[in-house]
Amino acid sequence: MSWRRRWTGCNHLLVTAQTNARRSLRLWPRSLAARTALVVILGLVVVQCLGLGIHTLDRNEFVRAAELRGQTLRIMTIYRDLVDVPAEARQTRLAKLVLPRNFAALVAPTPDTKSKSAFPAPPSLRRSVLVNIAGFPLPPEFRPRRIQLMADPDHRLQITALQMPHGTDWLIVSSPLPRPDALQGPAFLAAFLVMTVLAALLTIWAVRRLTAPVRTLAEAAERLGRDVNAPPLPEDGPLEVAAAAAAFNTMASRIRRFIEDRTLLLTAIGHDLRTPITRMRLRAEFMEDDEQRAKMLNDLDEMEAMVSATLTFGRNASSAEPLSPVDLPELIRTVLDEAGDAAPETIDRLSYEGPDHLTAQLRGRSFKRVLTNLVSNALKYGDSAKVRLLLPKEGSDMLRVEVLDTGPGIPLDDMERVMQPFQRLETSRNRETGGVGLGLTIARDISRAHGGDLVLANRAEGGARVTVTLPA
Ligand SMILES: Nc1ncnc2c1ncn2[C@@H]1O[C@H](COP(=O)(O)OP(=O)(O)OP(=O)(O)O)[C@@H](O)[C@H]1O
Ligand SMILES: [Mg+2]
Repeated sequence: MSWRRRWTGCNHLLVTAQTNARRSLRLWPRSLAARTALVVILGLVVVQCLGLGIHTLDRNEFVRAAELRGQTLRIMTIYRDLVDVPAEARQTRLAKLVLPRNFAALVAPTPDTKSKSAFPAPPSLRRSVLVNIAGFPLPPEFRPRRIQLMADPDHRLQITALQMPHGTDWLIVSSPLPRPDALQGPAFLAAFLVMTVLAALLTIWAVRRLTAPVRTLAEAAERLGRDVNAPPLPEDGPLEVAAAAAAFNTMASRIRRFIEDRTLLLTAIGHDLRTPITRMRLRAEFMEDDEQRAKMLNDLDEMEAMVSATLTFGRNASSAEPLSPVDLPELIRTVLDEAGDAAPETIDRLSYEGPDHLTAQLRGRSFKRVLTNLVSNALKYGDSAKVRLLLPKEGSDMLRVEVLDTGPGIPLDDMERVMQPFQRLETSRNRETGGVGLGLTIARDISRAHGGDLVLANRAEGGARVTVTLPA
């Protein structure tokens, strides 16, 4: 076999193994409730089957013993009818007897059976039959002289030979071997199935109830990710659940306090910087050197812009705007109209593509800031702005808003950097486009606070594509 064929064979094996693993993974459910229910139900079925097996064995033993007793009684009744009859009259007497169903009897000089498949009965059967014969009420002089017991499993027969006490002849009776029904009829099986199904339903119900708090906790964590001011979890229910809810609430309030402290610090610094900047501006006016003064004033303008952007950022973080239904295409059109009004020469480079109306749960004012930032970036650095609203893809529940431009795009190495506060690319500084480098940071913050995200990419045909995802 060439290495190429061998390699293809290995590859095929690998693919088969992966497919099998994926299939077995799919059989093993992913939710905690389903896993627990599956384990409990499997355990239940195993225990039920074992119980059923033990019960059936026990019952079979009992039924076999009872059947054997009845059968020996019937054999001994035939024997009793013949034992006090003279030997020569036994054949005639036997012919007159009415034998039980499936029984056959004959009187013969030897105990030999004609059947080839007959062999001495197993000890357990022999023991039971002998005990039953001993228990049959007969005067001692009428007891059989010898007993020979054979079994013929092929024909499912038990052959009992009893030698008469007076004379040498034998009574040979063949009767069916006792065979109790293992599953004890369809009613028993139906009862077993009904019991298992009921127990399974009860298990599923109980497990779902028990694991519900885990779902609630996950939902609360998800809500906290979108809105740090989300209401706390109720601290009730079983002890462990209440403790987990309390711990979660404490964690949420610590996160809230941490964010508040940081925001307060940021706004306080921004606020306090304003006074020294104003003082420096006054001082700069007295500078003799015109060129130095112009540069100084330029730097101070930049500092002031940064301070006011910081203050806006702080205000934005601390504002607790509630989620409300917003017509997203309408909001996008408003932002594009406003951009066009601010710079009429760009109007024919602005466009929207997507549904005419679509309601989404948004913080309208904050989200408008996201769109304004992105559209203004696209115009400033990319010369045009096309906003596209895309409905959720199959298997996802996220809306996508794409802002596309036809500019140079963003170098791959800089994509993470431009998302950081106050980071701008050298080209934008050179182009004197204004701005302090907070736009994308704020836009991503707001998108994440909605439970979505903001991702940068470059288009194959040139230009940047900024994608904001939002829960539908
Ligand atoms: N569509 C784009 N095409 C090319 N570069 C871009 C684009 N969008 C942003 N950038 C680069 O990313 C940098 C950061 O953008 P960001 O919006 O955060 O700040 P800014 O626009 O410079 O200032 P502002 O705080 O006023 O928004 C920009 O300075 C620019 O260099
Ligand atoms: Mg910007």
